Amino acid sequence: MKLSLLPLFLFAAISSTFAAALSPRNLTLQVKESVTTPHGWTRLGRASSDSKIRLRIAIFQQDFAGLEKSLYDISDPDHHRYGAHFSKEEVAKFVAPPPASLALVDGWLTSHGIKESDLVRSPAKDWISVTLPIHLAERILGAEYYMWQHTSGDILYLHEHIELIQPTTMFTRSKGMTPILYPEEDEPLGSVIPVTPFAKPHVDPSCTASVTLNCLMHLYNAVGYKPRATKKNAIGITGFLGQNANTQDLNSFYRDQLPAAANSTFKSVSVYGAINNQSMSAAGEEANLDTQFAFGISYPTPGTFWSTGGLPPWLPDDHTPVGKLSYPANKCPLMMMLSHPDTNEPYLDWLDFVLRSDHIPQTISTSYGDDEATVPFTYATRVCKLFAELGARGVSVLFASGDGGVGDGNPNPATQQCRTNDGKRTRRFLPAFPASCPYVTAVGGTMSIPEVAANFSGGGFSDYFSRPTYQDHAVNAYLSKLHGTYEGLFNHLGRVRRLSFLIILVLKHVNQGIPDVSAQSRKFQIVWQGQRISIGGTSASTPTFAGLVALLNDARLAAGRPALGFLNPLLYKRGEHALNDVVAGANPGCGTPGFNATKGWDPVTGLGTPDFKKLLKVCV
Ligand SMILES: *[C@@H]1O[C@H](CO)[C@@H](O)[C@H](O)[C@H]1NC(C)=O
Ligand SMILES: *[C@@H]1O[C@H](CO)[C@@H](O)[C@H](O)[C@H]1NC(C)=O
Ligand SMILES: *[C@@H]1O[C@H](CO)[C@@H](O)[C@H](O)[C@H]1NC(C)=O
Ligand SMILES: *[C@@H]1O[C@H](CO)[C@@H](O)[C@H](O)[C@H]1NC(C)=O
Ligand SMILES: *[C@@H]1O[C@H](CO)[C@@H](O)[C@H](O)[C@H]1NC(C)=O
Repeated sequence: MKLSLLPLFLFAAISSTFAAALSPRNLTLQVKESVTTPHGWTRLGRASSDSKIRLRIAIFQQDFAGLEKSLYDISDPDHHRYGAHFSKEEVAKFVAPPPASLALVDGWLTSHGIKESDLVRSPAKDWISVTLPIHLAERILGAEYYMWQHTSGDILYLHEHIELIQPTTMFTRSKGMTPILYPEEDEPLGSVIPVTPFAKPHVDPSCTASVTLNCLMHLYNAVGYKPRATKKNAIGITGFLGQNANTQDLNSFYRDQLPAAANSTFKSVSVYGAINNQSMSAAGEEANLDTQFAFGISYPTPGTFWSTGGLPPWLPDDHTPVGKLSYPANKCPLMMMLSHPDTNEPYLDWLDFVLRSDHIPQTISTSYGDDEATVPFTYATRVCKLFAELGARGVSVLFASGDGGVGDGNPNPATQQCRTNDGKRTRRFLPAFPASCPYVTAVGGTMSIPEVAANFSGGGFSDYFSRPTYQDHAVNAYLSKLHGTYEGLFNHLGRVRRLSFLIILVLKHVNQGIPDVSAQSRKFQIVWQGQRISIGGTSASTPTFAGLVALLNDARLAAGRPALGFLNPLLYKRGEHALNDVVAGANPGCGTPGFNATKGWDPVTGLGTPDFKKLLKVCV
């Protein structure tokens, strides 16, 4: 079930390099990033000028490179600073904007009559959020806002038409994110996945047909571990798009699968007004899956569930052309975001919220994402940097790698969107974002026992992010087996070419590979709206892997060590001895058989699935 919702996203970036020499008054604006209209979208009328819109302004950061270097140092198990995570204030010193950039942006906003009291700033002052009527936003950005509709009829979003502008840079665009769920049909259990011989005799045969907590604990060798650091350790699950995690369902699930945990609960945190609605009919499949498996595996580690964004009540106003459009009843017409002052971009809202806290759960799992090509490059890179801040703070951040194989998961080749979004519409694989961000751990999907790749497991190579050193060895080994297959379908250049002359050095450098690791992803038994259902996707793999990471963090904290923080440098250095390599299966898509799971890292199952007891040896 893919919810085709596109929350409105507005974003503006200011390049201080050019702007610093100008006075705010005659500041002119320049197109920073123009986005070719994606296939299938039609422009409707202008946006209503009195509607409120929330702009987010990202200001140039002083020393992200310094933060990145430190992140790699403190996440490298062989480095003397391993585990020396940063406080909020220490991170802010790196990402704070240079005073000149700050002054310029402030001057620009003040010159349009916007007051300091209207602005909400991030702790490092590198982000400003301000809610304005469209007409004012259009004036300060030199832009016009339009409503857009997708040919499928079910998505509407707002797009800004930039006509600008010298030499400060702005852009805005909407951004989508979807829960990554794989629909399991209601076949009798066991009919789809053939029962295969078992690698580990103690894994119950029923585990190929129906995945439970017990199955996973056996399969991943975690039976009998008793968490001890539950006063310090915590695990967090993000919820977006009105997905509610239901505590009554959680307890029914526990009565089924983990009776000792029955009657336990988790902390529900509301981010910018969203609530975790406990009405049974409001329970979300994604949110229930994520909380039941992540909290179940790591029990009794305290769990947090953040509800972010959501779907505010909406009444169309006279100016919006909504009356001419029709939507399937269960889809959200995104135009409502336009007339609602809480218009937001969920990842940013959540990141802004969580990075303000002094204490953040050490392990965080997110099962949402979108095709990287549909996410504006500047937005993706800036959000990715916020994940680096989380890593520097000592948080392990896990993201689902997507459920479309190398493509978008659309089984009909004619409607697959395996095309570049640069106007040329070249055939191209579709990696997922934020899984493609080098500062998160991307989790792919497996099935059966012994494990093989699930054919929907999202994987491939980013078109946006160049490859970090920690992946060089693993990814080069895979590429040498590929012998140029799929040349042109995945990245050899990426956006590095944007950096003009420096780029020449990295012309043949393949970008960030996805995923990093994997876990079971099919036939998960959950309770949803009072019923047992079977569900899957990398949405299931991610809380599974995260639940085990939370237990590893427990062991480290109990031993008086810092939490694991950003996992990848450790996993790529030591994972070979602590992960089960998955060597069969592939992730077809875009009319190709996709990549193969092979010995060592591959862009289907990454380095492999967890062996908890071995990971304990490597991590603690
Ligand atoms: C900005 O305004 C000043 C004074 O009016 C003028 O001298 C300068 O050329 C202007 N700069 C630009 C880039 O238009
Ligand atoms: C949960 O609550 C029920 C009803 O109060 C009780 O019967 C049961 O023993 C409790 N279970 C646990 C594990 O505390
Ligand atoms: C919670 O969800 C129910 C069922 O969808 C709905 O009727 C109710 O209005 C919601 N409550 C709030 C506070 O949004
Ligand atoms: C993936 O495998 C399922 C059976 O498990 C099959 O029905 C489906 O067609 C496969 N998808 C692709 C893209 O090959
Ligand atoms: C995947 O494996 C099959 C069977 O060994 C082989 O024919 C094919 O070329 C491989 N594909 C890739 C992309 O490596």
